[in-house]
Amino acid sequence: MEEIRELFLGTIKEKIEKLKTLEEAEKLRVNVFGRNGMIKSKFKEIKKLSPEKRAEFGKVLNNTKREIELLLSEKIKRLKEMEKQNEIIEKTVDLTLPGARRSFGRLHPITQVIQECVDVFSKMGFEVVEAPEIETSYYNFKALNTPEWHPARDLHDTFYVDDERLLRTHTSPVQIRTMESRKPPLRIVSPGRVYRKDYDSSHLPAFFQIEVFAVDRDISIADLKATLENAIKSILGKDKRVRFRPHYFPFTEPSIEVDVSFLEGKNRWLELLGAGMIHPQILRNAGLDPNEWQGFAFGMGIERIAMLKYGIDDIREFPRNYLGFLKNF
Ligand code: PHE
Repeated sequence: MEEIRELFLGTIKEKIEKLKTLEEAEKLRVNVFGRNGMIKSKFKEIKKLSPEKRAEFGKVLNNTKREIELLLSEKIKRLKEMEKQNEIIEKTVDLTLPGARRSFGRLHPITQVIQECVDVFSKMGFEVVEAPEIETSYYNFKALNTPEWHPARDLHDTFYVDDERLLRTHTSPVQIRTMESRKPPLRIVSPGRVYRKDYDSSHLPAFFQIEVFAVDRDISIADLKATLENAIKSILGKDKRVRFRPHYFPFTEPSIEVDVSFLEGKNRWLELLGAGMIHPQILRNAGLDPNEWQGFAFGMGIERIAMLKYGIDDIREFPRNYLGFLKNF
C-alpha cells in the first residue's frame, strides 16, 4: 500500500516541481483531478481489491489526494506571483530608454571667457605668461611710474600683505617682469586675478584682467588699434562698435580708454579696458632703450567682457556661484 502511495506521489511531485507556467499547471490539474484523471482511475482500482483492503486503500488514496492538492495549489500560488512580477517588469521597465544622465559640471563662465580670449590672442601670435597675485609695491606701482605720492594710486589702494607686498591691483606688473627677464620682440597675453577696494554692481574687490602687450621695433598706435578692434570683434561679435577715448595712465603715453557698445540702438557704452603706448620711462625701468624699442599695452576686465557677451547687468553674479545662474553657460 505504502509503495503505491510513494510511487504515485513521487511521479506527480516531480511533475509539479517542473511546472513553469500557469497554463502547464492547469493541464496537470486536469490530468490528475479531472473526470478521467489519475486519481479517478486509481480509485477505480478499489474494485479489484478484497473488501478488507478497500478501506485502507481508500484512506491512503484520499490522503495522497489531499497532499497533491496542497502541493499543486502552493505551486500555482508561486507561479501566479512570478507571472505578476514579470508583467510588472514588462510594463514598467522600458529597456530601450537611455540610462540616467550624469551631470558632469562645466567650467565657470569667467574661465570660459578667459580661455576664449587667450585663444583669440594666441592665434594672433601672443604667448601666455603668468605673474604672481601677491606683488611688491615696486612692480605694482613704482616701476609703472606710479610713485607713492601719485594721485592715481588712490584709485588703486588695495589689500596689503605687509609693508612691501600687496595683492596686485592690475595685471600690468607682468609687463615689467617680462621685459626684465626676456629680450624683445615680445607678444604677451597674461590673464589673472587682481584686487581693488571696490564693490558695487559693476565692480568687484577681486576680479580678472587680461594684460596684452607687444614690444618690438616700429610699433605704433595703429598696431594697438588694429589688434584691439580685431580681438574685441572676434570675442564679442562683429556687430559691436568700439570707442576710443583719451585717458591717462602713468605707464602709457598716449593713453586711451576703450568702450564697447551695448543695448544697440540705445547708444550705451561699457568701459572695457585701458590701453596705450608703453611709456618710454617704463621701457627704461625695465632696461630697454626707448629709441630702439616701442610697445603697446592694454588691460581688459574679464567680467566686463562676460557681462557684454551674455547680457548680465550685475557683476556680482559671477562670484556668487548660484547654480541656477552658472547652468546657463
Ligand atoms: N592696468 C590698467 C588698469 O588696470 C589698464 C591698462 C593696462 C592701461 C595696460 C594701459 C595699459 O586700469
